[in-house]
Amino acid sequence: MDAKDTTRVELTDFLDMKRAGRPITMLTAYDTPCARLADRAGVDAILVGDSLSNVVLGHRDTLPVTMEEMLHHTRAVSRGASRALVVADMPFGSYQISREEAVRNGVRFLKEAGAQAVKLEGAGPHVATVRALTEAGVPVVGHLGLTPQTAGMLGGYKLQGRTAEAARRIFDGALELEAAGAFLLVLELVPARLGALVSRRLRIPTIGIGAGAGTDGQVLVFHDLLGFEPDFQPRHLKRYAELGREIERALGAYCAEVRARSFPDEAHSFRMPDEEWAALEAALGPVGARPGEEA
Ligand code: KIV
Repeated sequence: MDAKDTTRVELTDFLDMKRAGRPITMLTAYDTPCARLADRAGVDAILVGDSLSNVVLGHRDTLPVTMEEMLHHTRAVSRGASRALVVADMPFGSYQISREEAVRNGVRFLKEAGAQAVKLEGAGPHVATVRALTEAGVPVVGHLGLTPQTAGMLGGYKLQGRTAEAARRIFDGALELEAAGAFLLVLELVPARLGALVSRRLRIPTIGIGAGAGTDGQVLVFHDLLGFEPDFQPRHLKRYAELGREIERALGAYCAEVRARSFPDEAHSFRMPDEEWAALEAALGPVGARPGEEA
């Protein structure tokens, strides 16, 4: 999509972009101002990732974030996204217990929070859940490779699909998710060759994060791409700004100016008409002036 195009991105546009060889852009966002910025920058899809848990809410990983928290932040993102498609991550525990509960929770994201699609992690037992959601009218994005909700079972946050056998499992899972009705597939932390192979063999588009240049699109975490955490530098991450350092510098400058009484200055203060001041002084007696006050 053209960044200047203001027409809403529809689900079917993603297939058209893949067919036309146009790379798809996706970014996470968790609140209205960031969604608005991503939308204005022209991203095709905004993911309200369950990375909300660790990126914004201060948890160690994605497991603690709840349905209610995901709904709350998805509503905020939906208010800021006038063009990009909004995808909400189904949090851990919201789709594993039963298919019925998964459909109920998926429907809530569309009905109550303004999302156009949901994302869930894994294949295997979740393939049937993807089918049930799709049949219920809830569009689904799949997620394979490193699946953070089960990172503990995968040996931690590390590259997946390095052996022929592990790569085959991801490949087969991708085909199963496509057959079950997923309309997009996120591939996280897999070798570039595997990312390209899956992308070539699937009809639906793939979105990579640490999956090389051969996927049909890319996704990054908003705060990571903007350098909110200067020391967070995994190999797959390219930082396009150093906002963490810049924000710290700005906040430090604000504290220093307040302490030095150089903020607020005349330009950031409001005047009171002299005659009103005189009337007040007449009522109260001389008030005296402190630094920065009008004499
Ligand atoms: O939650 C998230 O941010 C994600 C992306 C890393 C794809 O799932």
